[in-house]
This record gives sequence, structure tokens and C-alpha cells, in this order.
Amino acid sequence: MERLDITQELRDEHDLILEWIDLIGELARLSRGSFAESPLAIHFPVVDEFLGAYSDQFHHAKEEDVLFGVLERAITHCGPIPVMLHEHAIGRALRARMGEAFRARDLETLLGASRDFCGLLTQHIAKENNVLYPMAEQSVPDEERRAIQEAYAAAALRHDARALRERFERERDTLRAKLG
Ligand SMILES: [Fe+2]
Ligand SMILES: [Fe+2]
Repeated sequence: MERLDITQELRDEHDLILEWIDLIGELARLSRGSFAESPLAIHFPVVDEFLGAYSDQFHHAKEEDVLFGVLERAITHCGPIPVMLHEHAIGRALRARMGEAFRARDLETLLGASRDFCGLLTQHIAKENNVLYPMAEQSVPDEERRAIQEAYAAAALRHDARALRERFERERDTLRAKLG
């Protein structure tokens, strides 16, 4: 019997997250001078919504509630999960700092926190794609895979994942078009 895959849909979610990280970098690069004219500040509400609703509450929650729990049991030595959880926590703190800077109209802090956030998430995703997920595919026993897929499906249903993704793909395209 073919093994059920337990990481491909998480990789697909990473792809969209990386596209938004790229966009944030582009918005930041174009942001000089005043807060009011800065593209990052102008488009921050939708960026923040994506990072909250898709990256954190959907993707990170799915990792934490489903895959990481299984991996903590399956990988017993040099467990990588505490590091991954720690990075999720740092990401949440950086996103909070971005939000505070936005509300305070503090462009310098917004740019700094955004740069740190994008750097963190880029290397976090690389670690997951290149190390953690291959480890998961090797170490999680076949009999646990059905339940993992079902838990992913339940999360997708709870978050209306297809509509969520379509919406943020559209928003990405709109932003890309504006940036030219
Ligand atoms: Fe993660
Ligand atoms: Fe991830």
C-alpha cells in the first residue's frame, strides 16, 4: 500500500506564505520617507490579516495541533519540536511588534520588525521543508497517517481553507499588480 503523505499540503501552504514574505520585502524596500506614504504602512492591514488568519491561525496552528504532537512521540532523540515551537512564538511576538509600530505610525520600527519577521519565517520554513518534514515522512508510522490527514481536513473545514487561500491569492495578485 502506498504511504499517505503528511507534509505536502503544509509545503503548499509554505509556498503561499513565502510569496507574501517576498511581497512584504518588496513593500519594505519601497518604503522610505514618511509613514503615510510608505507602501508597507499603506498595505499593512491586509499583510497583517494574511499573517494572522493564514500563516498563524491556520498553518502554524495546524502544525502545532496535529503534526508536532505526533512528531514529539515519533522522534525521541534530539527532538526538533521545541525549537520549532519557540520560533512560532518569536514570530508571534514580532508580528505583535509590527502591529504596535503600525498603530504608533512608527515606520522605522515597522520596517525593522518586518525585516526580522521575514528573516525568521524564511529560515523556519526552510528548516521545516528540508529537515523536519522529511524526518516526519520517515518516522511517522503508516497507521497514524490516516488520523493526521483527517485532522488536517478538520482544520481546513474549520478555517474554510479553500476560500481563505483563494482570497489571499487574489490579494497577492492585486498587490503585485499595484507594485508593477
Ligand atoms: Fe512552523
Ligand atoms: Fe510551517
